[in-house]
Amino acid sequence: MRNLSLILWVLLLMDGVFGVDKVKQVSVSVMKGDSVTLHTDVTELQSDKIEWMSEDNVIIAQIANNKISIDDVSEGRLELDHQTGSLTIRNITENRIYNLDIGGRIQISKRFNVTVHDVVESVSVVEGDTVTLHTGVTKIQADDQILWKFGDQDTLINGLNGPVDVIWSNIDQNNQTGDITIRNIRNDQDKHYKVEIITSSMVLHRKFHIKFSDEMKTVSVKKEDSIILRTGVIDIREYYQILWKFEDERMAEITKGTNKFSLYNSANGRFSGRLHPDHQTGSLTISDSQTTDSGDYHLNMISSSHTIQRTISVTVKGLSSAVIAVIALCVALVVVVAVAVGVAICHMQHVKRSRGVV
Ligand SMILES: *[C@@H]1O[C@H](CO)[C@@H](O)[C@H](O)[C@H]1NC(C)=O
Ligand SMILES: *[C@@H]1O[C@H](CO)[C@@H](O)[C@H](O)[C@H]1NC(C)=O
Ligand SMILES: *[C@@H]1O[C@H](CO)[C@@H](O)[C@H](O)[C@H]1NC(C)=O
Repeated sequence: MRNLSLILWVLLLMDGVFGVDKVKQVSVSVMKGDSVTLHTDVTELQSDKIEWMSEDNVIIAQIANNKISIDDVSEGRLELDHQTGSLTIRNITENRIYNLDIGGRIQISKRFNVTVHDVVESVSVVEGDTVTLHTGVTKIQADDQILWKFGDQDTLINGLNGPVDVIWSNIDQNNQTGDITIRNIRNDQDKHYKVEIITSSMVLHRKFHIKFSDEMKTVSVKKEDSIILRTGVIDIREYYQILWKFEDERMAEITKGTNKFSLYNSANGRFSGRLHPDHQTGSLTISDSQTTDSGDYHLNMISSSHTIQRTISVTVKGLSSAVIAVIALCVALVVVVAVAVGVAICHMQHVKRSRGVV
């Protein structure tokens, strides 16, 4: 019985490896105009025959008898690597399927589904924020390649750690996800980032554009006035979590799932009845401010493409507007009385002078 199940298991495994219908699928998602290389995963071709075909199995590029031939229709956009048989496509403009067949000593069939998109992820930050750009990968495998580039020259970020690159010393890469985090981001750093992720089953290109806005990082109000903490975002729908904290204490959170603000208990005591979230922008207003509201407020916004962390320093000044209003009223009264007295004196002198003339 035990042997039988073992044999069945081995048969299943063999079917998985050698099955004719098991064509390996690779999904390739790139930006319009990109170049991408479709890898055969062969390190060195020998007498193998390689055929790259379109969806309807028309040959577009091949290596046969050590000779490369490429279809004319591709207008110089295709290039075949002599050693590996990998196909490079330049200036990709449309969705296409590429079928690969390697015959001879090594037998491989692969199907690459290339889709083109042109969405650049827009990231709106304030100078000094900490920004994380996501790859979308949850755990990097040993053979995965993640390349981060920036600027027009496509400078590689990976390995930027020499003294020459001190300007980039505020960038760290997460070794689990491949995400990069830019701490305390500066306006003079590049605004265009690009990531290329290559795994055995997928190729993904993503682009990011960082925009700087001039939302306040320090807020100063008079006691009893409202404190307005802004996200700088017009519409928070792309964020699946927005969290506001006062020092280490959670105040308010909006989660996409529930689509409503939850106010935390600790915040309920300190800020009882004074927190007013804006459901469209995620901004938070604290009404009737107290001097004890002074301190650091932390914002954490997470979307599928990026995370923004910001600290806003708030100072609430001792004298409230009401007290200032009373003082202003007293001053105004004194002025009015003084003016009235002055006018009266002038008038009397004028009357006296008029009488003198008459
Ligand atoms: C890329 O392809 C498009 C459409 O065929 C063409 O208009 C454009 O000039 C090409 N760009 C480059 C850099 O070759
Ligand atoms: C290719 O991938 C896209 C996006 O994942 C999918 O919508 C499409 O159906 C796939 N095409 C084929 C022929 O498998
Ligand atoms: C990954 O990063 C963590 C924290 O930054 C570090 O402790 C760990 O040693 C790193 N692992 C590898 C394999 O580099």
